[in-house]
Amino acid sequence: MPKPCLAVIVGSNRRESINRKLAQALAKLGADKFDAKTVRIDDLPMYNQDNEGNLPAEVVRFKDELARADGVLIVTPEHDRSIPAVLKNAVDWGARPWGKNSWAGKPAFITGTSPGAIGSAIAQQHLRSVMVSLGTILQGGEAYITFKPNLVDSEGNIGDESTRKFLQDFVEQFASLVGRLSAEPKAERSAA
Ligand SMILES: Cc1cc2nc3c(=O)[nH]c(=O)nc-3n(C[C@H](O)[C@H](O)[C@H](O)COP(=O)(O)O)c2cc1C
Repeated sequence: MPKPCLAVIVGSNRRESINRKLAQALAKLGADKFDAKTVRIDDLPMYNQDNEGNLPAEVVRFKDELARADGVLIVTPEHDRSIPAVLKNAVDWGARPWGKNSWAGKPAFITGTSPGAIGSAIAQQHLRSVMVSLGTILQGGEAYITFKPNLVDSEGNIGDESTRKFLQDFVEQFASLVGRLSAEPKAERSAA
């Protein structure tokens, strides 16, 4: 039986993004349970409803990658106490055109990190609200990670043992959710 395929989306377009490093470490933690593929969002044009009739090539690619994924892992920073614009733009393209919502019925796990004490919690909460409205099936629990220099070590692993254990539990629960849902016919989940 092939492993489920996860689309990994990072809510940052910064070259040295700490969230991209965290996303790669999470993919490594779950490497025996799923195949993770990073999906680019930094090349998507600004959403414009005028372009829905003739979708830009980057958007077609993005929506194809989502369609092929059994689940979505979103790792995001917080910008001004909310969802970074680059990520919200990707969410909007994924949701459109009407009737072609790429998110509906997809299991999703949302996490993220920031140097602040609440570790991107408000951005994650805003994103959860949006993704539920779009019909994703969210992994329960809360994974707000305060960034520390050893969060991801030089080998790309979670550096701190208690954080690694905390995230390993989430990765396992999410892999189990994706595995169960990917065994079901998709039509039963994609009501939106
Ligand atoms: C425009 C902007 C707004 C930010 N707003 C917040 C914020 O609301 N809360 C927070 O914890 N950090 C905030 N930060 C700091 C980010 O957490 C920090 O830059 C982090 O490295 C971003 O993640 P990244 O490295 O994955 O891009 C902000 C940074 C920028 C550039």
